[in-house]
Amino acid sequence: MRNIEVSPSIISSDLSDLRSEIKKCEDAGAGSFHLDVMDGNFVDNITMGPDLIRAVRKSTKLRLDAHLMINRPDKYYRDFLSAGADVLLIHYESPVDIGELINKFERDGIRYGIVINPDTEFRKVKKYLPGSEILLIMSVYPGFSGQKFINSIIPKIKEASDYIKSEHLKTRIEVDGGINDITGKQCVENGAEILVSASYIFNNDIYKSIQTLKNL
Ligand code: DX5
Ligand code: ZN
Repeated sequence: MRNIEVSPSIISSDLSDLRSEIKKCEDAGAGSFHLDVMDGNFVDNITMGPDLIRAVRKSTKLRLDAHLMINRPDKYYRDFLSAGADVLLIHYESPVDIGELINKFERDGIRYGIVINPDTEFRKVKKYLPGSEILLIMSVYPGFSGQKFINSIIPKIKEASDYIKSEHLKTRIEVDGGINDITGKQCVENGAEILVSASYIFNNDIYKSIQTLKNL
């Protein structure tokens, strides 16, 4: 059996009962939590800021990944760290100097991962991988949960996985968007190690869906 890490995106949970939703995910074997931060500029939607992350932090000891879909990650990342995020997931497409931002993270010992949109080629981020804990491959265009998985990103997972193996890197491949039992399996078969899911988990039985994804 593969050891898939499931990272529930709490954006689709019952936020009025967040603590118990988090507990249910933990009991089902979630490995981390995924926090979808959207600023209404980088994407056409507004979700959460540091205060909600602070509330999540009080409810779990699992790793918290902040997926920063914002125009100024360079300006705001410290707020997410002080709210309790462990790993910052930064979009290659952000309108900031990614190389410079990563240098800062390296210097300050900040954990990070790089995110690529469905139409961004893998080769563009190769040089950022050595220090990246995670390569997050988007399988929908960021902005909303509940979208359909874009099948054409599958070869990119394989390409990234082959490259990471050949270079003996520690980066883990994560996929985000439209994940369910069928699409999740395709991702895992091509080298994904972490699966993010919002609607498949929270619109179904939390325990069963997390268990299904873990055991694909
Ligand atoms: C999309 C977000 C995803 C999304 C996942 O912009 O980054 O994390 O919420 O939602 P589902 O699993 O419903 O596609
Ligand atoms: Zn996300």
